[in-house]
Amino acid sequence: MFEKELKKLKNKNLVRQIISRATTQGPTISIKGKKYLNFSSNDYLGLANHPEIIKAVIKAVERYGFGSGASRLIAGGGILHERLERQVSRFKGTESALVFNSGYSANTGVIPAIASERDAIFSDELNHASIIDGCRLSRAETLIYRHKDVFHLKELMTKAKGRRKIVITDTVFSMGGDIAPLREIYNTCLAFKEENQKKDTILFYIDDAHGTGVLGNGKGGLSHFNIRPEPWIIQMGTFSKAMGSFGAFVASSKDIIEWISNTARSFIFSTALPSCVVSASITALRLVKTDHSLLRRLWTNRERLIKGIRDAGYDIMESKTPIVPLRTRTIEEALRLSGSLYRKGIYVPAIRPPAVKEPRIRITVSAAHTEKHIDFLVDTLKGIR
Ligand SMILES: Cc1ncc(COP(=O)(O)O)c(C=O)c1O
Repeated sequence: MFEKELKKLKNKNLVRQIISRATTQGPTISIKGKKYLNFSSNDYLGLANHPEIIKAVIKAVERYGFGSGASRLIAGGGILHERLERQVSRFKGTESALVFNSGYSANTGVIPAIASERDAIFSDELNHASIIDGCRLSRAETLIYRHKDVFHLKELMTKAKGRRKIVITDTVFSMGGDIAPLREIYNTCLAFKEENQKKDTILFYIDDAHGTGVLGNGKGGLSHFNIRPEPWIIQMGTFSKAMGSFGAFVASSKDIIEWISNTARSFIFSTALPSCVVSASITALRLVKTDHSLLRRLWTNRERLIKGIRDAGYDIMESKTPIVPLRTRTIEEALRLSGSLYRKGIYVPAIRPPAVKEPRIRITVSAAHTEKHIDFLVDTLKGIR
């Protein structure tokens, strides 16, 4: 079964391998008994293995056990879930928030909850796969606008007059490291709202998975652009990236969150996160709010990396964040670069279709990398160019 299909993938160099770490997630990892410098994880602040998070998890396991046994609506969740939701809504400046089991399940649950076949969704062409799947599940007409092209977005919105419009974008694009023009998109939504004078005509949904903990002093995309968290904006984000934990959230007005908790199927029909995981996210959120040295180190490391890579003559596309792609002309070239780095003891994955249209290697830098780690990567990249 699937032999022919697999062979076709192999012939196109598109078969991917699962890589299994034998160590904690961090700037150095071990794979198959060999040590590698790791520039592949989304653990931007280096929290995945932070001692305070480990301590909080152990304490929560001792107090609440491990398995949660049921969904939130039938007592699977606990008081820590509620505490995290209160803290997220305060952090994001909204009335309310809801925890989801993952970013994937948030996008595939929330989008169908807020959009139906009568509505129109406007989605950036490079939005994350979980948004694409959420749009498909919603059965709404989905109009795809060119990447970060607000003029194209406006043009499409004008064509969908009279329907509820849901505009959806990643804040930081996960494979390019570039930032969506949230201010211009927000202004466009506002102009349509004012024109229609109806409160519920427009919803603006941002996927802040890679912005939370990284942009706007850690508060995320809206804060970065100084946009007020209006009740018609829905902020989705994850605990699985800069927060070094697991799970996700949506934050918005009280009514919207109550509606989502009653209608998002991935929330209703799925077992709640274990309390110890929630406790990790609570601790991570506290660290993001109080330990500003984490973000300072992250951005200093990013500057050092970018300067070195630019000097080496690589094309970093439109990266503005700790996600730094190096664009290659072909899939083979991406594989060659990734393979050469691997042989020199550095793990940086090649990213190929269908994850992206244009092949690249994707470097991610974190607060936990040292100057030595970064310089070794840059020197090696210079040597294999
Ligand atoms: C932009 C974006 N949204 C959603 C997700 C899904 O999040 P999670 O890994 O928590 O399921 C990811 C992660 O891959 C992502 O990059």
